Amino acid sequence: MNSIRIITHPLWLRLTHWLNAIAVVLLVMSGWRIYNATRFLDFAIPRDITLGGWLGGALQWHFAAMWLLVANGVLYLLINLFSGRLRRRFFPLSPRQVLRDLAAALKGKLAHDDLSHYNGVQRLAYLFVMLDSVLLVLSGLVLWKSVQFPLLRELMGGYEAARRVHFFAMAGLCAFIVVHVVMVALVPRTLLAMLRGR
Ligand code: HEM
Repeated sequence: MNSIRIITHPLWLRLTHWLNAIAVVLLVMSGWRIYNATRFLDFAIPRDITLGGWLGGALQWHFAAMWLLVANGVLYLLINLFSGRLRRRFFPLSPRQVLRDLAAALKGKLAHDDLSHYNGVQRLAYLFVMLDSVLLVLSGLVLWKSVQFPLLRELMGGYEAARRVHFFAMAGLCAFIVVHVVMVALVPRTLLAMLRGR
């Protein structure tokens, strides 16, 4: 029956995905401004690509967007977990499957006909970014309320170590975004599906 429409990405997924993308852009750009004011590496991020204007302004953006990321991220993870979607979409996952799909992708031979099925490389990349985001939030909690979260702080190796964990987790997230956006540009049909559901 042609009245039945197969939805690849349900509405809740599209909404949480795009809200997450907005929160991440705000957090990364304001985070770069905060880093510039308190930097621990030998370089600064060009001011034009940072958000907030000055340290106080950047902190306001960072704290506002962090609530969006956490509320939205928890909602995404809970729906995924309790609906069984996480298990269905991202598992099973094996090194052999990732290597096979990576080789096929590099040869331009990876099939994209079924958008509701993620290949091994996508599964790994999406699971990586989920765990990396959790690490960002946990290390962020240590930086924000270091005294209130002593156990978390010590698990990270102390306040200064938590700053580095937070920074390198951000770098991992940025690397994911670059690869993710290039992949989407290579198969634009996936973008349409993430916008309109199918
Ligand atoms: C701003 C530019 C972005 C674009 C254009 C974009 C686009 C897309 C598209 C088209 C898909 C579906 C992929 C497919 O069907 O093969 C997708 C899925 C996904 N994206 Fe993005 N994305 C962006 C940003 C982000 C960011 C910032 C994150 C996380 C930090 C992210 C995390 C994910 C995840 C985890 C999935 C899989 C979702 C699921 O099925 O549960 N994306 N994205």
